[in-house]
Amino acid sequence: MASKAIIFGFLIVTCVVAVFASDPNHLQDLCVADPNNTVKVNGVVCKDPKVVTADDFFFSGLDKVGNTSNPVGSRVSPVNVVQVPGLNTLGISLARVDYAPWGINPPHTHPRATEILTVLEGTLLVGFVTSNTENRLFTKVLEKGDVFVFPIGLVHFQQNIGHGPAVALAALSSQNPGVITIANAVFGSKPDISTDILAKAFQTDKSIIAGIQAKF
Ligand SMILES: *[C@@H]1O[C@H](CO)[C@@H](O)[C@H](O)[C@H]1NC(C)=O
Ligand SMILES: *[C@@H]1O[C@H](CO)[C@@H](O)[C@H](O)[C@H]1NC(C)=O
Repeated sequence: MASKAIIFGFLIVTCVVAVFASDPNHLQDLCVADPNNTVKVNGVVCKDPKVVTADDFFFSGLDKVGNTSNPVGSRVSPVNVVQVPGLNTLGISLARVDYAPWGINPPHTHPRATEILTVLEGTLLVGFVTSNTENRLFTKVLEKGDVFVFPIGLVHFQQNIGHGPAVALAALSSQNPGVITIANAVFGSKPDISTDILAKAFQTDKSIIAGIQAKF
C-alpha cells in the first residue's frame, strides 16, 4: 500500500515537472490565438476554428535587415505568437537577430525557452553561464552555418566579432519565450531598485549605480 502511494506520488511529481518543462501540450489540431479576447488563460484563448485562415500561420518579412543603430548594435525581430497567432499552444517560435560590427545581443535569459541559434552570415562569439552552483561560462566562436544551443533560463549573449554585419536565426521552444535583459531588469526597472541594494549586490558605490541607472 505504502509503495503504491510512493509510486503514485512519483507519477504526480513527474507530471508536474513535465507541465513546467515546456509550453503545455495542445489538446486539439488548432488553437489559433484570439488576441482580442478579454478572457485570461495561461496562453491565449483560441478563436473560432471556422474563421481561421492560412494567414493565421503565416509571417512575411524575416528577410528584412533589422535596424542596429542603437547603443548595443543589434536588433531582434521576433516571430512568436504575437506575430503568428497560429503558434498558440504549439511551443515553438523564431527570431532573426542582426548585429552591427562589434554589436552585442546583451546578456539575457528566456524564462520559458531553450534556444537553438544558427549563424546565417558573419562571425559571432556566443556564450552562456550556468546557475550559481558553478557560474561556469561556456563560449564558442561561430561561423556561417554553425549552430549553438542556449539551455532554458540560462544567461547568454552574442557578439559580432567579424568585420561586416552578422545575421542569426534563433528557434525557441515556446510560443512566448520572454526576454529578461539583465542590465535592463536590474538597472532600468520602473521604479528603480534602490541604489543601496544594488551597491551591495555589485559591491560598488551608490554613485556608480546611480550613473548606470541614469543610462537606462
Ligand atoms: C482585434 O481588434 C482590432 C480592433 O478592433 C481589429 O482590427 C482586429 O482585426 C482584431 N483582431 C482579430 C484577430 O480579431
Ligand atoms: C534606425 O534607427 C535609428 C535610431 O532609432 C533611426 O534614427 C534611423 O532612422 C533608423 N534607420 C532606418 C533605416 O529605419
